[in-house]
Amino acid sequence: MLAGRKKILSVVGARPNFMKVGPLHRVIRQFPEKFLHKVVHTGQHYDERMSKIFFEDLELPKPDFYLGVGSGSHSEQTAKVMIEFDHVVERERPDIVIVVGDVNSTVACSLVAVKKGIKVAHVEAGLRSFDRSMPEEINRIVTDAISELLFVSEPSGMTNLVREGISEKKAFFVGNVMIDSLVYFLPKSRQSGLRNSLGLDGRNYTVVTLHRPTNVDDPLRLAKIFDMFEHLSSSASIVFPIHPRTRKQIGEFGLMRRATAIPSLQLIDPAGYLDFLALMAGASLVVTDSGGVQEETTFLGIPCLTLRQSTERPITIEQGTNQLCGEDLGIALRRAQAILGGEKKIGRIPELWDGRAAERIVEILLKQV
Ligand code: UD1
Ligand code: UDP
Repeated sequence: MLAGRKKILSVVGARPNFMKVGPLHRVIRQFPEKFLHKVVHTGQHYDERMSKIFFEDLELPKPDFYLGVGSGSHSEQTAKVMIEFDHVVERERPDIVIVVGDVNSTVACSLVAVKKGIKVAHVEAGLRSFDRSMPEEINRIVTDAISELLFVSEPSGMTNLVREGISEKKAFFVGNVMIDSLVYFLPKSRQSGLRNSLGLDGRNYTVVTLHRPTNVDDPLRLAKIFDMFEHLSSSASIVFPIHPRTRKQIGEFGLMRRATAIPSLQLIDPAGYLDFLALMAGASLVVTDSGGVQEETTFLGIPCLTLRQSTERPITIEQGTNQLCGEDLGIALRRAQAILGGEKKIGRIPELWDGRAAERIVEILLKQV
C-alpha cells in the first residue's frame, strides 16, 4: 500500500444507500494515491431486486465485504450488523467510516466505528422529521451525535444540527449525493424499456411507492389506500412497484385480491434504478412515502404527494413539487385528481442539487482525513 494513503470504508445496507455511495465511490477512486476505498454491504436488504440490481445499474463494484445480516427486529438487525462490522473494522483498521442516510445499518456501523476510535462521516446529516416514532429519526439523531464529519443536503439540516449543539465546524452543506446519481444516470435511464412494456408510453400515469410501517403495517390503513387507488384509477393508470415489506403485508392482510381487482393498477416487482428513474420521469404524478423519492421528484419537477404526517426533507415542500397529505386519504385523493386534471405545483431545484455533492465531500475529506 502507498505510504500515507488513507483507508475509507463506506457502508451500504438498504436500497436507498446504493445511490448515495455510488457517486462517492466514483469520485474517491479518482484519487488512488490518496485513498484506498472499500465498500461494506451489511445485507440488510438482500433480495436481488433490492440489492444486486443496484450494483449493476449504478456501476458499483462488488462489495469488498458482505455481512449477510438479513431481516429481524430492529434490535436484532442492529446488533447483528454491529457484531459483524466490528470484525471488519478490527481487521481493516480504516481511517474513516462513511455512513449514509438513516437506516439501521447506518446507526449500527457508526456506533461500532466510534467505539473503536475511528472517525465517522455521515452523509445526509441533519435531516429531522421531529417524529421520534419513526425508527429512522432515532437513527439520524444518534448517528449525527457521534459523527465527526456531517455532510448536509439541504439548509434545514444545518439549522437542526446547530440546534442540537453540534459544532458548525463539523457540518458542511454540500448538496445531495442522491441527486448526483440521478444527474449521472438520467440519460442512460432513457433507454429503459419498462414504460413501454407496461403499456404506459405516451399515457398519463401515476407511480406509487409505499413501505413505511404507518402506511403498510396497519391492515385498515392499507385497505383504505387501495380504496383511494380504486378512485384514482378512473383518471389515470397506476403502476406500483411493491417493496418486499409491503408485499408481505398485503399477503398477510389478505389484500392481494382486492389490489389486483383494481382496474388500471399494475402491481410489479421492485424496479431497478434505471427503470424506476424512467418511470418517475414520465409520470404525471408520484404518490409515495419514500424519503429519496420526495427529493428525486422535486429535481425532476414531477408532482409528488407524500402519504405522511411529516417530512425530514422540508425543502421538497418549500421549494419543490412535494405536498404532504398526512393521515387524510380524502385530501390525498382530491389533490391527486387535481394534479391529474392539470393543476400542478411548480417547483424549483434546491441549491447545490447539481450532481456535484460527492466532489464537494471528497474535497473536504482530502483536507480532513
Ligand atoms: C428499511 C429502512 C427504511 C428505508 C427502507 C428503504 C430501517 C429501520 N428501515 O425499511 O428506513 O426507508 O429500508 O427501502 O432501517 N424484506 C425482504 N427482502 C429484502 C429486504 C426486506 O423480503 O431484501 C422484507 C422482510 O420481510 C423484512 C421487511 O421487508 O422483515 C422489512 O425490511 P427492513 O430492512 O427491516 O425494513 P424496511 O421496511 O425495508
Ligand atoms: N427506487 C428504485 N426502485 C423502486 C423504488 C425506488 O430504484 O422500485 C429508488 C428511488 O429512485 C430512490 C431510492 O430507491 O433512489 C429510494 O429508496 P426507498 O424508497 O427504498 O428508501 P427511502 O428513501 O424511503 O429511505
